Amino acid sequence: MTFTIFTGGDSGAWNILSVVPVIGESLMPASHLAIAPSASLSDPSATPWQLRGVTSHVRYVERAEKIALTSVQAGLGRAEATRAALIPIRKSAAWWEMTQDERRKVFEDKSRHIAASLKYLPAIARQLYHCRDIGEPFDFLTWFEYAPEHATMFEDLVGILRATEEWTYVEREVDIRLARAI
Ligand code: HEM
Repeated sequence: MTFTIFTGGDSGAWNILSVVPVIGESLMPASHLAIAPSASLSDPSATPWQLRGVTSHVRYVERAEKIALTSVQAGLGRAEATRAALIPIRKSAAWWEMTQDERRKVFEDKSRHIAASLKYLPAIARQLYHCRDIGEPFDFLTWFEYAPEHATMFEDLVGILRATEEWTYVEREVDIRLARAI
């Protein structure tokens, strides 16, 4: 399994512009973010913070949504996408006590997470990392890349999602904004 390790410290390819706690405890301030793959889970090094996640299969996406997403989504690493957001999220016990079909109802039927977000593609490129089952402080690390001219659009998107029923189950969320350093 390949883990992706996000390290907040004094070096890395991204400058940290801001670290804002949306709900729950924040993370220590740091000037840079480094992202590296790792074959194993090492002990966190002596840095302000380190978060680890893994890419995984989709849980909620239905076939028609998968086709729609695949047809419009952009990949990571575009030259013009010099801005990024790393938003670690933990959901509550009440979320995890629901069954898969109950969670899907909240996630899409009620909150329209996919339907409402699709129109932000391909401007916003995204990658979801899972970390609930590897002993991490968050359940998900969400990563987004976009061009500076799409920064306002990204604010609209996070505003819409945070007002949904799905977000009533979010008990910890930290919003880290970045600009490419190299
Ligand atoms: C750019 C537009 C976005 C699109 C198209 C999108 C789409 C999706 C999709 C399809 C999934 C489900 C994956 C699965 O089936 O397992 C998902 C999950 C998730 N997204 Fe988004 N998303 C977007 C933006 C965001 C933003 C801005 C945030 C955070 C502020 C976010 C947070 C999450 C989280 C935490 C999950 C995992 C939910 C769970 O499994 O309980 N997404 N997203």
